[in-house]
Amino acid sequence: MSKLNYQERIPNNIDLSNDLSLQRALEHWQPKFKSWWKDMGPEGFQSYDVYLRTAISVDAAGWASYGKVKMPEYRWGIFLADQANDKKIHFGDSIGKPVWQQVPGDYRSVLRRLIVTQGDTEPASVEQQRMLGKTCPSIYDLRNLFQVNVEEGRHLWAMVYLLHAYFGRDGREEAESLLERNSGDQDNPRILGTFNEPISDWVSFFMFTYFTDRDGKYQLKSLAESSFDPLARTCQFMLTEEAHHMQVGESGITRMIERTLELMKKLNSDSPETIRSAGAIDLITIQKYINFWFSSSLDLFGSEISTNAATAFANGLKGRPDEFRYDNHIEKDTFYEIENYVDGKVFKDKVPMRNAMNEITRRAYVDDCNIGIKRWNRLIKKYGYEEYSLSLPSTKFRRNIGIWANLPFDINGNFLKTEYYNKLISSWLPSDNDKKFINSLMIQELDPSKTASWITKPKRGINNQDIEFDYVDLN
Ligand SMILES: [Fe+2]
Ligand SMILES: [Fe+2]
Repeated sequence: MSKLNYQERIPNNIDLSNDLSLQRALEHWQPKFKSWWKDMGPEGFQSYDVYLRTAISVDAAGWASYGKVKMPEYRWGIFLADQANDKKIHFGDSIGKPVWQQVPGDYRSVLRRLIVTQGDTEPASVEQQRMLGKTCPSIYDLRNLFQVNVEEGRHLWAMVYLLHAYFGRDGREEAESLLERNSGDQDNPRILGTFNEPISDWVSFFMFTYFTDRDGKYQLKSLAESSFDPLARTCQFMLTEEAHHMQVGESGITRMIERTLELMKKLNSDSPETIRSAGAIDLITIQKYINFWFSSSLDLFGSEISTNAATAFANGLKGRPDEFRYDNHIEKDTFYEIENYVDGKVFKDKVPMRNAMNEITRRAYVDDCNIGIKRWNRLIKKYGYEEYSLSLPSTKFRRNIGIWANLPFDINGNFLKTEYYNKLISSWLPSDNDKKFINSLMIQELDPSKTASWITKPKRGINNQDIEFDYVDLN
């Protein structure tokens, strides 16, 4: 077990004090990070004590310790999963050779790009979520928001460490740029589309943490397979934190649906108007938010057929999530069946397995997304509403990248005439009216004994604390 060194300015388990030039580079970046956090991090509550977990070591038993801390004083640190002895490259053309502890010259720019692209999403989500404290449904939820935010900040640290430690001057420049791009900025936006979408309400926040943080999980899983060992170990540890973010999303959506079902039962009505006037969100609107965030997140996996993905696999830079599950780790002359679309026809196609890596990862992601959907449908059934169910839209719906980009496929995957599609799109996605309604529900609740009208109380508190514990000290 590697213990965190808490005596240092930057908590770490990488023996930073013995690498003075790296320590200096990171200490130079640290005040810039703090000023970014002040300007672009959570609005309000910065001077309050928040009940947060902080990583103190990377082993399963002790990686999270809980206590009250002011967010700007959070101990953002650098942690890698422990190094294994004699670790070998386990996929691609160089399978069986030792993993790399330094960046091979040939792969330098590709690896840097992978790290920068992952790194860019971390502060982006903090920026996207920065106003949500003003409309939190409860103190418990407020604390969860801040926990996610500080950990995304730590994920940025994780990527910046790799840039500083292994990419010299270019890496230092990239680390600066990570604080200069901003989510939704006209001139200097974040790299990936979904991370420029506004998250201005809590329904979107829960959808984002369920669907988009889960994309993060799959990207991290792929990078955790990398032959560049420091990247693999960094991502392995990030995954432990990521699990909590998705849990926030899943339980948030569950509580929202539960509230709706309680009211449907109590008022003996499934009319959206009745549910809305009682202060909750009808299932049709919840489905629209699912459609929006799921389809947006699908694009993050890239094109279904990709030579970049093939090269990254062949060179051992990026593997499949849970590579150990597969029998063949080379996939040189193997094929994968996908759906393709050429000249107005959808057809089954066989493409070289390596070129289909994005699609393979996306399918694993879709299966994972469906687990929550099944749970929510069981909940709906439990309340006796057999005729209702939630579902994921077709992966062809509302895509901007890959085979299905900008084609008028509906939520069931049917090709429609563009005219017809344009007419129907507002019945599948949150309309201006829906958004206005959702915003009308977003009223800040700071009384620890209360929860907003549109969501049920959580079932249990954080780290065995009471549900009504003061997770954020308002005094
Ligand atoms: Fe993250
Ligand atoms: Fe996350």
